[in-house]
Amino acid sequence: MKVRIDMGSASTPRGLGAETPATLDLEELLATRLLVQGNSGSGKSHLLRRLLEQSAPWVQQVIIDPEGDFVTLADAFSHMVVDAAAHTEGALHRIAGRVREHRVSVVLNLEDLDVEMQMRHAAAFLAGLFDADRDFWYPMLVVVDEAQLFAPSAAGEVSDDARKASLGAMTDLMCRGRKRGLAGVIATQRLAKLAKNVAAEASNFLMGRTFLDIDMARAADLLGMERRQAEMFRDLERGHFVALGPALAKRPLPIRIGEVQTSGRSGSPKLTPLPETPEDVHELILKPGEPEIPRPPVRRPAPSASADAILQQLAQSRPAPAETGPAAEERAAELGPVFDEILRRILADPEAAFRSVAVLYQDFLVHCRMHKIGAEALDLPAFRRKLVMARAGVDAATADSPEWERAVSAAAELPEDIRGVFLLLARAAVTQAPCPSDGEVARACGSHSPGRARRLLAYMEQRGFVVSRVERDGNRVIALPGLDCETAPGDPLATEAPQQLMAGD
Ligand SMILES: Nc1ncnc2c1ncn2[C@@H]1O[C@H](COP(=O)(O)OP(=O)(O)OP(=O)(O)O)[C@@H](O)[C@H]1O
Ligand SMILES: [Mg+2]
Repeated sequence: MKVRIDMGSASTPRGLGAETPATLDLEELLATRLLVQGNSGSGKSHLLRRLLEQSAPWVQQVIIDPEGDFVTLADAFSHMVVDAAAHTEGALHRIAGRVREHRVSVVLNLEDLDVEMQMRHAAAFLAGLFDADRDFWYPMLVVVDEAQLFAPSAAGEVSDDARKASLGAMTDLMCRGRKRGLAGVIATQRLAKLAKNVAAEASNFLMGRTFLDIDMARAADLLGMERRQAEMFRDLERGHFVALGPALAKRPLPIRIGEVQTSGRSGSPKLTPLPETPEDVHELILKPGEPEIPRPPVRRPAPSASADAILQQLAQSRPAPAETGPAAEERAAELGPVFDEILRRILADPEAAFRSVAVLYQDFLVHCRMHKIGAEALDLPAFRRKLVMARAGVDAATADSPEWERAVSAAAELPEDIRGVFLLLARAAVTQAPCPSDGEVARACGSHSPGRARRLLAYMEQRGFVVSRVERDGNRVIALPGLDCETAPGDPLATEAPQQLMAGD
């Protein structure tokens, strides 16, 4: 049985005025994905809503919703709203796994987060869908509105980490999701702002009104049209789209999207008549407010909420395992060494020091799967904690010591870019190991340059975080005043293999 979703009406090929239903083949869509593009107000969100409403009885749905536009679906259908701001990335990864297991349709509402956090949270959730156990690979529509936010074509103002995680998750969704039952449906205002590889994986297109030449050119390329032919997108009215692709139509087909049952929260602005100007207008507008108390300027902390959170967690004692009881503890004890070994192998690659956490985590999950560890793998926050430890070269005994706990608390107070280096020095000081060389310090801050390491150390010294001295034989000792300990002398110019950073090697 074929399931055809009714999207609205199509003009007959010769434009004789008669209209036929415009349908979308749902099974074909699951295999071939969909890209919707149109400028602001062209009706993309309305179109997605129509598609979601019409297909809700047939297929599980997840909506990545940056504006909180789709939460109203929960009123009329059985969708559950997950407020992303209320959960950590690790929790969202887990929640996504359960969403697949229990086959519940979900709206991931990202409206209360800034762009960077939207990217991180959406990435964690998408990765959770993607990493679900093979037993739960049921087909699912994954609708991403404003997809250019999550898969931008150019680096923006967000951190590299966030962009890579989000772009990676979107690429996985569109390029490798099909086998796992994930069918991406993505909408964007500006095709030119959407990463090319993500757009290119859709075989179905719905093109709405498009003004800018650069978007038009991209649309024509994707659809295999002459640029001249793509000019027709300029004159499309709101709610009118040109459909093309195996699930829609073999030739470009103009369609008009039909009505929807639920309403979005962001309608078009409506003109409302102005009220009469009141006589006391001056007083109304200019009347003084409550006496104002001058407030000192607030200094906002650096935008590193997630790193802060991790370090805070580190500073506290070990987090309780998700499930308690002797069986869970036994299982955790069994898996601990396996995770350590996997991490050791990943970090044994000299280039690992220069890879982002997201990339290393992907790697980690692949290794876990090879060990037949699925849902039990560490979540992202737990992985980050382990990684900070491993990168600082801390073994289990040191990690449990009160000195190390103090070092981690002290690190939490420092600017994010020097925490890794501080922990590296603290490790050497706490364990009485030789002072790390410039090369090692550079690696700890993700750089190949010893010069950068020396500048960073000088900066840390200036700020009073460390005190260094050079002994007569040229060896360096670094003391950490806050921790009341210092490293053994070490050669700043020594070059050794990066593996030696790892405990136990
Ligand atoms: N086919 C349609 N029939 C009736 N109303 C429509 C249709 N398409 C869109 N609208 C209305 O037009 C307005 C703008 O549509 P919509 O929010 O879907 O635009 P959009 O392309 O998602 O814009 P943005 O990129 O700014 O989010 C909404 O009020 C919507 O209800
Ligand atoms: Mg919209």
